[in-house]
Amino acid sequence: MTTRIEEKLYRIYWEFFEKAERERRWSVFDDIPWDKVNQEASEDLALCAETFCCVELYLPDYITYALGVVRNSFGQSWFQANWGYEESKHALSLGEYLVRSGKRTKDQLHDLHNRIFSKQFVGKYPTAIGGTCYGIVQEMATFLIYCKHRARAAAEGDECLRTIYNLIARDEIAHAHFYGDAIKVFLESDREGTLEHLVHVMQTFEMPGVDIVPDYDSRILKMREAGIDSTVFNRKVFQPILSYLSVTRDEMRKARLSLKAKDDKRRPKEGVSAPASARAM
Ligand SMILES: [Fe+2]
Ligand SMILES: [Fe+2]
Repeated sequence: MTTRIEEKLYRIYWEFFEKAERERRWSVFDDIPWDKVNQEASEDLALCAETFCCVELYLPDYITYALGVVRNSFGQSWFQANWGYEESKHALSLGEYLVRSGKRTKDQLHDLHNRIFSKQFVGKYPTAIGGTCYGIVQEMATFLIYCKHRARAAAEGDECLRTIYNLIARDEIAHAHFYGDAIKVFLESDREGTLEHLVHVMQTFEMPGVDIVPDYDSRILKMREAGIDSTVFNRKVFQPILSYLSVTRDEMRKARLSLKAKDDKRRPKEGVSAPASARAM
């Protein structure tokens, strides 16, 4: 029997999909001004584009994880199928940019493809609610990062890369809102339990590419120059999520205390849970 929650998730997906089809679809072939690549742009710009490309290339791992946790929900699993299509264009357009800009050869790009799967992305949150909370934080953070790099591409006069980042950013914020709308449904059904999942994700969050992207340590230094530290992360990722969900700081504080009490009870000798951290790329 279809539950009330499932009905709502299906409706949310239907609305998301209609909007995507009518307003947000874009083509790698027709909507990117490939002739406006700036071949004189800096290597730093290319390195960041390559790093984003790497993160997006773990798509099969992300889909495997996500479908594993939301498989019992029609609305959410169909969302993940559509999400995979949209995300696939992110990796393809960035890879194509690297070659057309002359920053990387086709052989280098294929070499990167081959190196990607020497490591695997493994999702840390085994439930649909936890995975959805991870989804909103990851998408909101990714949206912020692409907006920052859209400005960087514009500053270097690369209209092609600016357009790619712009199209990708639009997709990422739409994904964040889908996850947010799903979380609202979970909140209606179990507010305290859902907030505990959200707290747990915010306390333990890491961007998906951390430690698995090839040459991660050397890339991260360049990525951090975009200026996304934990203060910015808190202000531009966590706070907008809470306001989108209409969740107050006081509710989060209570959920944090409740989660800690449960953790302490479960692991009396191990002490407190993990410290708040947000290792952003
Ligand atoms: Fe993406
Ligand atoms: Fe996304």
